Amino acid sequence: MFHAQILTLFPEFFDSPLSCSIPKRAIATGLVAVDCIQIRDFATDKHHTVDDTPYGGGPGMLMKPDPVVASIRAARERQPDTHVVMLTPSGTRFTQAKALEYTEKTSVTLLCGRYEGFDERICDYVDEQLSLGDYVLSGGEPAAMCVLDSVIRLLPDVLGSAESAVLDSFTEEGILDWPHYTRPEVFEGKAVPPVLLSGNHANIERWRREQAQQRSRRSGQ
Ligand code: ADE
Repeated sequence: MFHAQILTLFPEFFDSPLSCSIPKRAIATGLVAVDCIQIRDFATDKHHTVDDTPYGGGPGMLMKPDPVVASIRAARERQPDTHVVMLTPSGTRFTQAKALEYTEKTSVTLLCGRYEGFDERICDYVDEQLSLGDYVLSGGEPAAMCVLDSVIRLLPDVLGSAESAVLDSFTEEGILDWPHYTRPEVFEGKAVPPVLLSGNHANIERWRREQAQQRSRRSGQ
């Protein structure tokens, strides 16, 4: 079983996405376990403070090192082999290759920040820093959910053969998927490319490869 842990101030953020579709089924069938750990539980003062103002001044609040590091230690105690990942816009870019790499691990712990970010010293306690892309989210939670979803669907036995991940976009050397069509044959004047109706499988295969390559070139892959 793949064991995910999420360190967060907002565990409820994950309730809906984990109770839908593929993640829901993966959890129900025991292929995946997801445990949310509330960072605030590791604050030791009476107000359970998890954030503070930055030294040197400036706007916003930072996640304090003490409760966050205590929560990381708790995660490592629960899952001694866990790989701890901090979600931050200054991390390295998350990719499909990275998602595949995580499926080889027994456990991944995703650390989500709020406010303006983390005290820099927290970085010494994580194994990796990941960014979803060059934009700033209001917290690490949406990024952690994307990482988790992309890993779950790649785990062995999670997808049925009809949903197979083998032909996904990005799995083959950065080549994007080809365009897909289903019924009706003509929708608001837009017809399905005739080659797909031809029954000629060699031609269909060639057309799909060409389309995928064109898309990859256009998107700069
Ligand atoms: N936290 C805020 N923005 C983020 C991003 N783009 N990627 C990962 N974590 C984040």
